[in-house]
Amino acid sequence: MTPLGAWATARPQALLVFFDAVRMEKHRRFVDLGCGDGVAVCCAALFCRAVGIEADLSLCTEAQQNARALGLAHRTAFLCADFRHLRLYPFDVLYIYPDQPLTALEHKLSGWNGILLVYGPHFSPKDWKPIDVFRWERETLSLYAFPEPRGTEKASGKF
Ligand SMILES: C[S@@+](CC[C@H](N)C(=O)[O-])C[C@H]1O[C@@H](n2cnc3c(N)ncnc32)[C@H](O)[C@@H]1O
Repeated sequence: MTPLGAWATARPQALLVFFDAVRMEKHRRFVDLGCGDGVAVCCAALFCRAVGIEADLSLCTEAQQNARALGLAHRTAFLCADFRHLRLYPFDVLYIYPDQPLTALEHKLSGWNGILLVYGPHFSPKDWKPIDVFRWERETLSLYAFPEPRGTEKASGKF
């Protein structure tokens, strides 16, 4: 457990497939909301600039060390904070592997432009439908776009 949640790590092979599929290189700035040991930030940093926000100081320090060890320090930044208290408008890609319901995040995103990536099937936004769901082995990534496109049906992508 961490001060604000529970830590589990996403699979890097799945993340690389997913980030390639969403054409992450076309985006400006990625943020992982609750970055744990930084695995998703490091994968995203291969495509664009990437920031990790993590409530747990030791995980945040580990994430920073991992990025440095991978030669990705110049494309990454880490912040030990509660993402619910931060402005998310500088980012055009939000990624989260949620360890709890997304209610607080849903309230923060009104008026925001960009894409939200939700790893895993455990928690999903209550009021939005994904425009795509990517799959790799047992892993999934759901893609939400903001502002929400009109009349978009749920689609599914398989790998
Ligand atoms: C399931 S782990 C995901 C780790 C990483 N994002 C990944 O994909 O491998 C969730 C992380 O979110 C962090 N977390 C939960 N709520 C948070 C909050 N409000 N602000 C910052 N970090 C938070 C937890 O400490 C935990 O490390």
